[in-house]
Amino acid sequence: MEKYSSEYLISEITRLKKLKNAIILAHYYQTGDIQDIADFVGDSLALSQKAASNTADIILFAGVKFMAETAKILSPEKKVLLPDINAGCSLANSCKAEDFKKFISDNPGRTVITYVNTTADIKALSDIICTSSNAVQIVESLPPDEKLIFAPDRNLGNYILNKTGSDMVIWNGTCHVHEEFSLEAILRLKKENPDAKIIVHPECELPVRLVADFIGSTSALLEFTKKDHGNSYIVGTEVGIIHQMKKENPSKNFIPAPPKDSTCGCSECSFIKLVTLEKIYKCLLNEEPEILIEEDILIKAQRPIRRMMEISEKLGL
Ligand code: 13P
Repeated sequence: MEKYSSEYLISEITRLKKLKNAIILAHYYQTGDIQDIADFVGDSLALSQKAASNTADIILFAGVKFMAETAKILSPEKKVLLPDINAGCSLANSCKAEDFKKFISDNPGRTVITYVNTTADIKALSDIICTSSNAVQIVESLPPDEKLIFAPDRNLGNYILNKTGSDMVIWNGTCHVHEEFSLEAILRLKKENPDAKIIVHPECELPVRLVADFIGSTSALLEFTKKDHGNSYIVGTEVGIIHQMKKENPSKNFIPAPPKDSTCGCSECSFIKLVTLEKIYKCLLNEEPEILIEEDILIKAQRPIRRMMEISEKLGL
């Protein structure tokens, strides 16, 4: 149980942010209270762009470790804090550097495109990083006959492959939240709510993507709900995003897509939910846990991330 009231935590966080010239960057998957105190809420690309260009001395990342590492790689001169160092990612865990080195040497002569959901040492082995909002465009920006490796999400890889037709070898990793959505339960919900549009993240499995009215990154899903004339949506991504969707569209109805196991609460990412207001307060107060990356890895990981940023900027993303 938290020993501080949320009013106290919010006022202390606000005070400490000002005192220490700190900025809080939060992903849409964080709980609503955290999204509401953040200086900036966004998807992985927007958060990386914000991490690369701000005037704060401290970045507190309300998100998972790979995103805080990405912020540190983009702004190595800043102190980057992560309120819970165990806030990991099943995708990042599925791809270990030794195994990935072997995968690359088993598939020689291929450009290595790696999803941002990876550890810094995997990024250091990559040619270009991507997020779900620029993955297709990054692949399309390369010569059409370029042979590729994509890691670690096999569903996002398969989505890119279907869109681009590229020659692509795909690592066999999945996100434990997106992998768990049940096609049958989604179709049952659709029958009960025939006007609801099914909107899903590209990390969902193919059968779920095939019944979707719209597929996109978290920010693309949010934008869709703002522009679309419908009133009801079955949302196939981590439930945290529904906070922003409701905020932006107070009169619309959002239904979380159900997981295969109705008792598991799997549409919540347990890693992401490790971050709480109390941990943010203590993290700002004590300035730890801090993200530190070995210099050699940090320098090697900068190149593919910067390549992603440059391509995204050119494409206006
Ligand atoms: P985006 O917010 O960039 O869509 O990424 C979400 C994510 O990391 C899903 O695992």
